[in-house]
Amino acid sequence: DGHPACYVPDADDVAAWWPRPVANDNKYSRGVVGVATGSGQYPGAAVLSVSGALAGPAGLVRYAGSAADAVRAHHPPVIASDRVAEAGRVQAWTCGSGLGTDERAYAELRTVLGAPVPVCLDAGALTLLVDTRMADWLRDRDAPTVVTPHDGEFQRLAGGAPGDDRVAAAVHLADRMDSVVLLKGDRTIIATPDGRVFVNPTGTPALATGGTGDVLAGLLGSLLAAGLPTEHAAAAAAFVHGLAGRLAAARGPVTAADVAAHLAEAVATLR
Ligand code: APR
Ligand code: MG
Repeated sequence: DGHPACYVPDADDVAAWWPRPVANDNKYSRGVVGVATGSGQYPGAAVLSVSGALAGPAGLVRYAGSAADAVRAHHPPVIASDRVAEAGRVQAWTCGSGLGTDERAYAELRTVLGAPVPVCLDAGALTLLVDTRMADWLRDRDAPTVVTPHDGEFQRLAGGAPGDDRVAAAVHLADRMDSVVLLKGDRTIIATPDGRVFVNPTGTPALATGGTGDVLAGLLGSLLAAGLPTEHAAAAAAFVHGLAGRLAAARGPVTAADVAAHLAEAVATLR
């Protein structure tokens, strides 16, 4: 019935995809990730997405948004500015977690989408795409886009719930948006516009707590900035995010900050 084959990556796959620093690397050669997340209402989303970005392979994290003070307080090494246009050059953006949907968020999203670099879109950015009928803009971008909806965000983007066949639903939306779709769930699905599918095997219900999606979006942005192919960045981020959730859960109740704090250990278990 044309149902696509699903590839379930293992730790060896993710280890092979994961960028490692080489002897003559510097922070710029490892990639610079821009994080356009958070808002006055949701400063925690900015802090969490930056935590995810810092755990990834990129050499530098630049934050841009209205939660710059919270980001500076929690992550002193991060270069924080108030607007995307002031952030300087990056090799990828992650945008939308806790961003809200006001005029300022809309302006920031437009600036991000205008950058000729890979972009990961989450949460408020996805709502804005629907509300302003910008979803078709993704088809006109030259650089790749990843969208990371949970079921509610998927329903708004696709005009209907994922339904029982989540793989087919993700493939359909990836084709329609000409974007990689990471459909969150206990088995997160990654679908590409050309119909390939990855299913993440490391999920854990410990991740079902507010803010873990923000951590994932930051980590995914770092992998994009480091130059991973979009679908490998998405599959690797989901894999390591799940491992970090399991490691955190082994020590007690899990918060999103705990997941972020276990990302480095999760990467270290890959090989
Ligand atoms: N099993 C495995 N993984 C799960 C499970 C589960 N049962 N439940 C959730 N997860 C994972 C998802 O795959 C995803 O990676 O946890 C993460 C949750 O991400 P989101 O749904 O984006 O939640 P998050 O953004 O962290 O929640 C905060 O989201 O909808 C908004 O306004 C809402 O403030 C809230 C915000
Ligand atoms: Mg979310």
